[in-house]
Amino acid sequence: MLHRPVSSTFLPIAGNSTRTLADLRREIVGIDTKVPLLDGTERLYVFLDNAASTPSFRPVLRCIEEFLPWYSGVHRGTGFKSLLATEVFDAAHDVVGAFVGADPETHTVIFMKNTTDCVNKLANRAGLHPDDVVITTLMEHHSNDLPWRKHCRVIHLEVVEEGRLDLGQLRRLLVEHTGRVKFVAITGASNISGVCAPVHDIARWTHEAGARIFVDAAQLAPHRRVDMLPDDDPGHLDFVALSAHKMYAPFGTGALIGPKEFFEDGEPDAVGGGVVEIVTLDHVEWNHPPYKEEAGTPNVIGGVALAAAIGILQAVGMDTIAAHETALLEYAYAKLKRLRGVELYGPTAHFEDKIGVIPFNIEGKHHALVAAILGIEGGIGVRNGCFCAHPFVKHLLGVTPEEDDRFTREVLEGNKTNMPGMVRASLGCYSDESDIDALVEMLERILRGETRGTYRQDKASGAFLADGYHPDFSRFFRYSVARASGDRRHSEAS
Ligand SMILES: Cc1ncc(COP(=O)(O)O)c(C=O)c1O
Repeated sequence: MLHRPVSSTFLPIAGNSTRTLADLRREIVGIDTKVPLLDGTERLYVFLDNAASTPSFRPVLRCIEEFLPWYSGVHRGTGFKSLLATEVFDAAHDVVGAFVGADPETHTVIFMKNTTDCVNKLANRAGLHPDDVVITTLMEHHSNDLPWRKHCRVIHLEVVEEGRLDLGQLRRLLVEHTGRVKFVAITGASNISGVCAPVHDIARWTHEAGARIFVDAAQLAPHRRVDMLPDDDPGHLDFVALSAHKMYAPFGTGALIGPKEFFEDGEPDAVGGGVVEIVTLDHVEWNHPPYKEEAGTPNVIGGVALAAAIGILQAVGMDTIAAHETALLEYAYAKLKRLRGVELYGPTAHFEDKIGVIPFNIEGKHHALVAAILGIEGGIGVRNGCFCAHPFVKHLLGVTPEEDDRFTREVLEGNKTNMPGMVRASLGCYSDESDIDALVEMLERILRGETRGTYRQDKASGAFLADGYHPDFSRFFRYSVARASGDRRHSEAS
């Protein structure tokens, strides 16, 4: 491979005009989109579901448009376009590494589909035995819990007040299981409470116990500076994963960053084209990471889009983004705390270590009904349910083991109407006070009983549908096709 200088920015050479928070809001694709409401009117969509997926930055689209004429298969083509695409795609890996403070000499950046894919790869590649221990936490997304459960014993660290981690218990567990603990796998920020974990302290204790730390940065990376720190710093992070669709580049890429030496060892979990140096009928010589771990034709556009989005986040500055979000949380909670009948979960003050996630319920109202009303009557996009973190949400709601058994039985019988859950409003770097005002105004309407719709709950999904609300999607998106009525059930997501 040619030696390339490590690039840590990814912006147009002729300059970048997106530098401030105000620029960011203007540069969100779809910020000016109107959606239909139950009363027949339309309003500007209020997007408060950024923890699930963010919209795209416009400069990311511009970058892709500029790149597409040069798009070509990478790494094995000899034509000019392939050479250029390879250079850009490899540089995109470097950009992601630099964004999380990885040392390019010792670390590799592996492009995967998303964070889930990354955790599965890490767990598959970790050489775990059934007696090994991975310590994770009660506040994890299923993505940073279930992949480990396939391989070894998983211990879930408990949470204390406001959904914060019990760090004393972590230190005790590390001592109790020294030698058997192979990984501490922890989310950098919860997708439910927004609480950030003190990852560098946890890293120090983990390393003292001879284990490695993995940080799920799916929620952290879009909101806070992530720094893996040098390997000789006891607080360094061994592995980090993130998802581009939560970072304003929804084009199907995630990244796993970790030591090259870890991936040099052993066989890749997925094999096929691109992962080898040479193959005979009875022998395979593996390529070096990241190529060894990116089986098949990679998602070049997705990787370039992620690098472009990172370029914008860096130009505005992660510290500026974090400060803006903290101020917006102060504004939101000052208003929400005044609403009688709104129950808030997780920290409701001191937001330095909380990202912009606001979980709540309205007393006496089903979470799915509240979310439906916000969408159908308010044009506000939120999410409800257990957000792929069932144990944590049920813990925060105080669900008893008996209730949990009953809900499980009901779900197995095809009835999700009583599934516990919350409503979650989540902020992006471009969110502003007008988004919070719109949410609070609608919540006030719901509390005053001033909603119009007649809602019915679907037994299989638990979702509420409003009588008479059947928008014609093809009026909004030309490529819509009429679907045969079939299985429209969605599995729960993030
Ligand atoms: C904390 C956390 N980890 C992991 C994931 C999984 O991310 P993805 O769906 O991109 O794989 C999510 C998604 O919401 C998340 O919030």
